[in-house]
Amino acid sequence: MNDSGNDKYLLTPGPLTTSLATKRAMLHDWGSRDTEFIAITGRIRDRLLAIAGVEDSHAAVLVQGSGTFGVEATLGTLIASGQRTLVLENGAYGKRIVAILERIGREVSVLSWPEDQQVDPAALDAALGEDPSIEHVVVVHCETTTGILNDMVAIGRVCGVHKRRLIIDGMSAFGAIPIDGNSVPFDALIASSNKCFEGVPGMAFALIAREWLETTEGNAHSVSLDLYEQWRGLEANGQWRFTPPTHVLAAFDQALAEHREEGGVAARHRRYSANRDILVSGMRELGFETLLADAVQAPIIVTFLMPADQRFDFTRFYDDMSARGFVIYPGKLSIADSFRIGCIGALGPAEMRAAAAAVKATLEAMGIGDLASMATNQASSLNRTET
Ligand SMILES: Cc1ncc(COP(=O)(O)O)c(C=O)c1O
Repeated sequence: MNDSGNDKYLLTPGPLTTSLATKRAMLHDWGSRDTEFIAITGRIRDRLLAIAGVEDSHAAVLVQGSGTFGVEATLGTLIASGQRTLVLENGAYGKRIVAILERIGREVSVLSWPEDQQVDPAALDAALGEDPSIEHVVVVHCETTTGILNDMVAIGRVCGVHKRRLIIDGMSAFGAIPIDGNSVPFDALIASSNKCFEGVPGMAFALIAREWLETTEGNAHSVSLDLYEQWRGLEANGQWRFTPPTHVLAAFDQALAEHREEGGVAARHRRYSANRDILVSGMRELGFETLLADAVQAPIIVTFLMPADQRFDFTRFYDDMSARGFVIYPGKLSIADSFRIGCIGALGPAEMRAAAAAVKATLEAMGIGDLASMATNQASSLNRTET
């Protein structure tokens, strides 16, 4: 699957392993006001809307920066001062949304769940029934903290019944977990180039209901993160207001073509699901335990509990895996000591089987032969890494 030369495989939530053609797409220089580059930007915007099935109702607004820039730009542009937003939080990215809203001075209410539990639509229903001052709801589709999937169809239905706006952080889901404007009537969906679309990092985007976006002039707390102005600029002449990440866009254009050739969201979901299943069964055979129940585990990234075995040293495990060509990811949990292994990127079954074999070889090198006896250690504090 992966033809990317001698690079290590990135078993992380992004940046991740990209195809050779996607890397090659960056071997050119583009003028940001040139017709060829304007066509690339236009193609990407159209394609993203089509993937979500919202060509007629929404606008795709692109913004420079990582995913968090896209989240902050979207929240700051769409939510006016004085409007109250309810955040449904079951992990670090939900907490980051709360932090952004507080920092930019918006009114925030929060409903929280433990990191290993899904957001409960019934609790959302009750909260919206009790508090008419809540105008907007924000939720993370796949909480990358753990890899847990939230039920967007149920959450969308509740928001629809109560007529509240729904903003989805689909950063680690859009492109591989099906979502469309019919089954989930969302008002805004935020994601980035470098996760399930397998592009390179440097650009985020939001698909925003046009009738809402049109009313948001002057809301934004920031000049560069003002998506209303960004949209007006893109609509006026197809150009970005400020220097665009031209090479990132070219790579994203190629990555989107590959996404389509593969068979779109359904095919990507199948490949990532197969990747996850190979990974999880290989790790379980070695004695590792997953944090999440299989029913709520997205095919994006898997959290494994840290073995209690004194001989297991995570730093050494990480370094050995890296030396064997696989970059894994530290944990980000507050409820258990853990580490994560991603199953997204230009990777298939052969790479996931090789990763499981590398874990086995690494354990053997650490002198841990009796794998079945590895109890897990859920009590101690964590390896908290901000990404
Ligand atoms: C669900 C979710 N939201 C937001 C972000 C932030 O994206 P970035 O790290 O690109 O700023 C991430 C990153 O992994 C994510 O998984």
